[in-house]
Amino acid sequence: MEKNIEQIKQEFLSELQEVKNQQEFEALRVKYLGRKGILQDLFKRLGAASPEERPRLGKQINELKVFLTEKVNEAKARFSARKKTARIDLTLPGRKPPVGRKHPLTQTLDDMKRFFLSLGFTVADGPEVETDYYNFEALNIPKNHPARDMQDTLYITEEILLRTHTSPVQIRTMQAQQPPVRIIAPGRVYRRDTPDASHSPFFHQVEGLCVDKGISFGDLKAVIEEFAKYMFGADIHVRFRPSFFPFTEPSLEYDFNCVFCRGKGCKVCKYTGWVEISGAGMVDPNVFTAVGYDPEVYTGYAFGMGVDRIAMLRYGIDDIRLFFENDLRFLSQF
Ligand code: DAH
Repeated sequence: MEKNIEQIKQEFLSELQEVKNQQEFEALRVKYLGRKGILQDLFKRLGAASPEERPRLGKQINELKVFLTEKVNEAKARFSARKKTARIDLTLPGRKPPVGRKHPLTQTLDDMKRFFLSLGFTVADGPEVETDYYNFEALNIPKNHPARDMQDTLYITEEILLRTHTSPVQIRTMQAQQPPVRIIAPGRVYRRDTPDASHSPFFHQVEGLCVDKGISFGDLKAVIEEFAKYMFGADIHVRFRPSFFPFTEPSLEYDFNCVFCRGKGCKVCKYTGWVEISGAGMVDPNVFTAVGYDPEVYTGYAFGMGVDRIAMLRYGIDDIRLFFENDLRFLSQF
């Protein structure tokens, strides 16, 4: 019987090699492992063996069982896998690999950068977690100054906060280099705002700063007008209005012709023909003094634009929250 067991093993292996399809495989399985199969037969014959032989033979038959079961399971996976492959319809069109794309804010920012880089600006960077000094103090906004109320701030400690604007990068840049300075500083900013269609507790700005001898308001106007045309088309004009920021003197805000009605008046611009874009001005002499530039020698302009706002105008989006929900049905449209 021992010899028999070894023989069964060999026969099984060679028969398994011959198996070509699922049906033949199933027949082989039944032949060896089925209820009336070879293995069961061996178990039956075990009863006839002598009591001394029985334990050893029993062990061998059990080992055979394990062996056969393992081989059958292995082969089973192979045959069912084959069955699946056979179901592929080669005439179907291929699947398109999913191709990613840039977020609409990144696309807008890329265009803004391209414009300013073409004018010789470079890109500067600063931390999103800022100190009170850079975010306010050095920008001529002392503690307890009412101008702080304009920016609801997320404080981490008394002296550390999430930056409320990209203007602190102006200070960091001027501290690190001497004029001429011509930088833009794009980045995320934070304010303690309750989200609604036009507010988000975080949004994006592009700061601009240009400092040299003889820089004038005219330079600022020209750059902003060219920017408006680059982003929205040659028929878009810019309107400058007086305003106040502690770090610029004089300060202004500027509007673009409404990009939807091209200045004729519509619901978006509340029938004024203009939409507000951002603040700007000539760098305040106090700011120059804070960074060690001589305000008698140098002048400069600065501006801070909202990237989200520009992207909303550009793509006709009426709710800022859509940018941050990660809904692919929205994002894949751009
Ligand atoms: N930092 C201002 C804000 O977020 C915007 C701003 C105004 C930036 C005037 C400037 C500027 O650089 O000159 O409200």
